[in-house]
Amino acid sequence: MAPETQRHRTILDRMWAAGLPPIQIRPMEGKLLQFLSCNAQKAVEIGTLGGYSACWIADALAEGGRLYTFEADPDYAELALSSFQQVGIAEKVSIVVGDANETLKTIEPFGPFDFCFIDADKISYPHYFRWAARHLRVGGIVAADNAYLFGKVHLNPDKEPEDAPAIRAMQEAIDILTNPSYFSVCTMIPTGEGMAVGIK
Ligand SMILES: C[S@@+](CC[C@H](N)C(=O)[O-])C[C@H]1O[C@@H](n2cnc3c(N)ncnc32)[C@H](O)[C@@H]1O
Repeated sequence: MAPETQRHRTILDRMWAAGLPPIQIRPMEGKLLQFLSCNAQKAVEIGTLGGYSACWIADALAEGGRLYTFEADPDYAELALSSFQQVGIAEKVSIVVGDANETLKTIEPFGPFDFCFIDADKISYPHYFRWAARHLRVGGIVAADNAYLFGKVHLNPDKEPEDAPAIRAMQEAIDILTNPSYFSVCTMIPTGEGMAVGIK
């Protein structure tokens, strides 16, 4: 088990107290995110929840670096913001509230970015991967959680009517990741949920 700091535990305690769903990354994935975002000046996260993964990324930023994190649910975003204030990282994290499909464009003038972590609605992963390919610097890294789609990514969507939209979306996202005109190299890191990683 990777070591969490007291700050990570404070964020989790506040999430449980507020009744947020326990769908944040695991500590080992936090360490992986730190590795991938190490020394980033400008990082992006899509899917804040209560701010747990954001805390891992914020800790890895270069001096003066900034994390832009996107969250659709205003209550989650409010909790994350107060947690960032409580653990002392609020000055290097900006939360953008709303549907990231629409709100990502608000930070485009601040790009290009060094790192982008995708961990939100699976149906939008193709859009998020394309966005990352457009707005990362050359050499910038994209990482996406849940790339195994809970064990369903390899299934034939025509035979899985209930999950077909999500399966099609994740398969399309992986097609984008493996297309060298978007990302020069990529890999799948076998975390429990599958972390898809690419370098522009
Ligand atoms: C798996 S949770 C994120 C967990 C977080 N990255 C962590 O590990 O601590 C996914 C989050 O994405 C948010 N979300 C879902 N669809 C979204 C969208 N279209 N735009 C922005 N956020 C979205 C959800 O409200 C939820 O809080």
